[in-house]
Amino acid sequence: MTTKIIGTGSCPGDRVVTNDDLAQIVETSDEWISTRTGIRERRLTTVLGTAGMAAEAARKACQNAGIDPEELDLIVMGTSTPEYCFPNGACQVQAEIGAVNAVGFDVSAACSGFVFALMTAHSFMKAGTYRNALVIGADDISKIIDWSDRKTCVLFGDGAGAAVIRAEEQDGIFHGLLKSDGKKWDVLTCGARTAGNFLTEKKPELGYVFMDGQEVFKFAVKKVPECIRQILEETNTSQEEIRYYILHQANERIIDSVAKRLKEPLEKFPMNIQKYGNTSAASIPILLDEMNREGRLKRGDKIILSGFGGGLTWGAILLEW
Ligand code: COA
Repeated sequence: MTTKIIGTGSCPGDRVVTNDDLAQIVETSDEWISTRTGIRERRLTTVLGTAGMAAEAARKACQNAGIDPEELDLIVMGTSTPEYCFPNGACQVQAEIGAVNAVGFDVSAACSGFVFALMTAHSFMKAGTYRNALVIGADDISKIIDWSDRKTCVLFGDGAGAAVIRAEEQDGIFHGLLKSDGKKWDVLTCGARTAGNFLTEKKPELGYVFMDGQEVFKFAVKKVPECIRQILEETNTSQEEIRYYILHQANERIIDSVAKRLKEPLEKFPMNIQKYGNTSAASIPILLDEMNREGRLKRGDKIILSGFGGGLTWGAILLEW
């Protein structure tokens, strides 16, 4: 028995914002942003928000898979920016797409959200509990950015990506590793809306994204290759067998460095960060969807997905397309 991705969809934010546009609101430049990150522009959502983008990506993924939303048993959404504390975003998507027979919940693992959600859904498949699932990574991260902080505001963009997965009888590889290091929780954070109760007299405060960029950089370039090597070892797979490494799109320099550490050519590391920036949990499924629609993924290709982000959290999944 194995889990297969049978369809993908995506929905980036509706408005293009270039580096030059950002240079109008903070002291920065296209040159600074593009040389340090690879980002040229990003898309921000002005209409749909997290659940709306997620639902649009989900509809497209169901169409691509040739599945009616009523056939879905499970919806797992990786997000850090749901519209509500409750209900969860997956329940909103369920209502929007008419997945009346599914159960939905969110997974919170920041930029690792899609990988964590996919492993969660796969575990239900492996246990034989469900057959068809929708896995989403979606973030409207622009609403939790401090737009006067040039250290963070230039890095992110909004979007959603989705994949329909199915439990298949045939043999095949689907193997994942999820990791976290709570001791480093404070290097990449966004405080929740905080308010006290009538005893504390605290005023409501909004949280914004805070990042120690260099700590996050060091963490990513060490842990991602380590995790990929572990997965290859555990599955007795050689690097030559891997067609693509589809990494979280946080920074071109992180991806370059991972490729170098694995001694792999950069061509095996597809990138679209120049168009979208870091879309948090959405970056891997958006890239996967673009590659799928461009016909770059062939049945039987072995690919590794790897995410990393706040928590700190990270993980990787080896699967056969
Ligand atoms: N435009 C212009 N200058 C900027 C700037 C911007 N947008 N952001 C920061 N700077 C300035 C800083 O103020 C600093 O100036 P100073 O030396 O006068 O104090 C200088 O650039 C260097 O800042 P620093 O933070 O040391 O830059 P860096 O080389 O570490 O690059 C990142 C910053 C964020 C690009 C880099 O640390 C990084 O990529 N980290 C990983 C981030 C990431 O991917 N996070 C998401 C993971 S899920």
